Amino acid sequence: MKKYTSVDDINDLIEFLQFTKEIKNNPLGNKQLGKDKTIGLLFFNPSLRTRLSTQKAAQNLGMDCMVMNLNSDSWTLEFEDGAVMDGSASEHVKEAAGVISQYCDIIAIRSFPTLTDKEKDEAETVISSFVKFASVPIISLEGAVEHPLQALADALTIEEYKTTQRPKVVLSWAPHPKALPQSVPNSFVKIMKKMEVDFVITHPEGYELNPKVTEGVKIEYDQEEAFKNADFIYAKNWSSYTDYGKVVNKDPNWTIGKRQMDLTDNARFMHCLPVRRNMIVTDEILDSDASIVIPEAHNRVYSAQAVITKILEGLK
Ligand code: CP
Repeated sequence: MKKYTSVDDINDLIEFLQFTKEIKNNPLGNKQLGKDKTIGLLFFNPSLRTRLSTQKAAQNLGMDCMVMNLNSDSWTLEFEDGAVMDGSASEHVKEAAGVISQYCDIIAIRSFPTLTDKEKDEAETVISSFVKFASVPIISLEGAVEHPLQALADALTIEEYKTTQRPKVVLSWAPHPKALPQSVPNSFVKIMKKMEVDFVITHPEGYELNPKVTEGVKIEYDQEEAFKNADFIYAKNWSSYTDYGKVVNKDPNWTIGKRQMDLTDNARFMHCLPVRRNMIVTDEILDSDASIVIPEAHNRVYSAQAVITKILEGLK
């Protein structure tokens, strides 16, 4: 594996999930692989799970880990080619990526979308620039349009908890006070399309995701209809793609509670976290046995470890 910036970078998901399960069964079994290697974790945005799980994954492989919050600890970076740098940016990504490549064997980056400039976000400007100008492999820790490590952990969690060969999985939009990216749902949709699942997306009108991503997937605007006989409910808020980055609806009827979960086939409740209680999901559901959000977050370690292992093997 040369990079992991999209779910599309996985060739054979079934094989990759099997490999991830093997790592989970023996997480310290390959401690020599990362000896004398360094991973740099660069954050333009906050994180709890991604930062700690990726660091833990690197440690499990014997790697050293450098972490930097770029917005607060480093120079402001310029990404535009040919820019006259007379503004706030002090360093171009061309030099920054080249320099960090001298210190790190892998660079992992978190950079959220602007949610105002659709073209720039869809170009995945920050992560793509590092792919272009770094001389080492790049991993996305959540970019403008995808969160591929989260999706891999989600797929592993569904594999572990499914009780039928072809479970029904529902991705449900839920309300949130702020405008959030589409990266988690985009990657979740992409990975569900590669799995043996009966997959449905439900959201109010106006929250359609990028049609290129959802092509071939059933979209049901009636949340209660979508939840019927579901085995997994994956809740997430996202802002509008068509009215780009806008909150076009905060209907509290979409908050996931007992009324909707009672329609399912004793479905498991999933969310990538952090989650706003009693906005996205009620306390009653999040605190119930149906919720698997903690094991889902645990699996972030093994999704990161599988990806780092494949990249390290490619460096040999
Ligand atoms: N799910 C997830 O990416 O969590 P963090 O934003 O805390 O890293």
